[in-house]
Amino acid sequence: MTDSDTDKRDRIRCRQELSAHYEQINDVQMRDMFSTDPDRAGRLSIRIDDILVDFSKHRVNDDTLALLFALADASGIPAAVSALFSGEKINTSEDRPALHSMLRAPAGYRFQLEGQDISALVHSQLARMRDFVQRLHHGEIHGATGQAINKVVNIGIGGSDLGPRLAVDALHAFRTGDIDVEFVSNLDPQELHSVLARSNAETTMFIVASKSFTTLETRTNADAALHWLKQHACPDLQRHIIAVTSNQAAAKEFGAGDDYIFYFWDWVGGRYSLWSSVGLPIAVAVGMDNFEKMLAGAHTVDTHFRTEAVNRNVPVILALLSLWYNHFFKADTHAVIPYDQSLRLLPEYLSQLVMESNGKSVARDGQTIKHRTSPILWGGIGTNAQHAFFQLLHQGTHLVPVDFLLPLQSTSDQAQQLKLVSNCLAQSEALMLGQKNDDNPNKQFPGNTPSSTIVYNKLTPGVLGMLIALYEHKTFVEAMLWDINPFDQWGVELGKKLARKLMQDFSSSEISASQHDASTLLLMQEYLRRNK
Ligand code: F6P
Repeated sequence: MTDSDTDKRDRIRCRQELSAHYEQINDVQMRDMFSTDPDRAGRLSIRIDDILVDFSKHRVNDDTLALLFALADASGIPAAVSALFSGEKINTSEDRPALHSMLRAPAGYRFQLEGQDISALVHSQLARMRDFVQRLHHGEIHGATGQAINKVVNIGIGGSDLGPRLAVDALHAFRTGDIDVEFVSNLDPQELHSVLARSNAETTMFIVASKSFTTLETRTNADAALHWLKQHACPDLQRHIIAVTSNQAAAKEFGAGDDYIFYFWDWVGGRYSLWSSVGLPIAVAVGMDNFEKMLAGAHTVDTHFRTEAVNRNVPVILALLSLWYNHFFKADTHAVIPYDQSLRLLPEYLSQLVMESNGKSVARDGQTIKHRTSPILWGGIGTNAQHAFFQLLHQGTHLVPVDFLLPLQSTSDQAQQLKLVSNCLAQSEALMLGQKNDDNPNKQFPGNTPSSTIVYNKLTPGVLGMLIALYEHKTFVEAMLWDINPFDQWGVELGKKLARKLMQDFSSSEISASQHDASTLLLMQEYLRRNK
């Protein structure tokens, strides 16, 4: 991907045109655009398989969209998409490709990377996962005392936790087998201890999931789990540990047996890794067939993203809208509101995907960025959110674009589902239409708040795969528009380094005043005083 002077000039021209256009459209009400354009909703919505994405409730007209699509072209989005799928080293600061889409490509999808058949590699791990999960479900995996394993605890953090945690929770209706699956991520010992308190060492297995296998939180919790196993008379630890990693040497050194090391590759970023063997807890919870349906759903979106023109390409459109509000309307945040209890963990999952990917201020060429990059992603489930923070969305002083996610069919009670659907649609309608009240300003709703609504029948493994892949690709396009590398995360390193130093300093006999700022020093001394 080259960035010629002509490309730069085109981008600057597009942004200037968008800026001028913003001045014209800023006061235009969406309700007026709807009343003068009966086809608006039909034109501004796109189906991918079972999902319908309605982006008609946005502050755009045909001119806006034409300018945004021109910006996508000038920013080299089509070329960036092919670079992503062809395995170019688009993670420039780490000199790697980002090939998570290959993790969900069907068997036989031919793809070579530096002479290696990537599809064969991926499917060999999937086959190992299938074999393991089947044996586990059939009661054929035994712990050190010969009892069948009936519980799996995933120890991991960030990308080695959030994706599997989301999917296991979201797909509870698809549980297969009788294996209990729990998660531990936090360095705060309370989380591990409460899981251990309800576990039986003889029948529990730990998945230690860590791409690097060096992460402090994961290694500390894993060591504590090993200690607990030993204390509970399970000395043959290899029967109780699975490692999921791209650092096999470290996993072996930790004590995992060869048969129980599942691996993935450095071209899979941590927050894009749930499709790899990091997804093992998902497969344990819902079975390998359902896990593969999730992969197939994501692959459907990969194909859409790779092949559709920018003006029919959902991740591209959602990313352009994000830039539109972020740059021109100065919207600092973006809310995701699933009207789906199954997706209650989605906002947390997306906060890592979006903010660890795009919370950056250095361009791909190393220059400091002068424009705004990622908005803050937050959210909560409807209808609970209506009774919590929706007041601010309706009448506050911030413009917050919203994504609504809405299943149209209930798994249990369609009459109640209809109430839920009505509430969701009422919110997007109210945010868009607003309400005039010249007598009482408290009852005035300014409206014109933009939202996208994504509907589907029910949350199935396939739909979940599609939704996550949509957000992954949207995040990638945003990064390309902002000229940043979404696949590194240098911003988390300084805190890790200083934590290591603090741990060392706490254990030294004397804390040197010159080593820390006065506030940190005061707090360290307070700790020591209270823990004599
Ligand atoms: O928070 C930084 C980070 O590197 C994430 O990107 C990653 O998902 C997480 O830590 C866990 O890393 P690992 O899988 O190597 O333990």
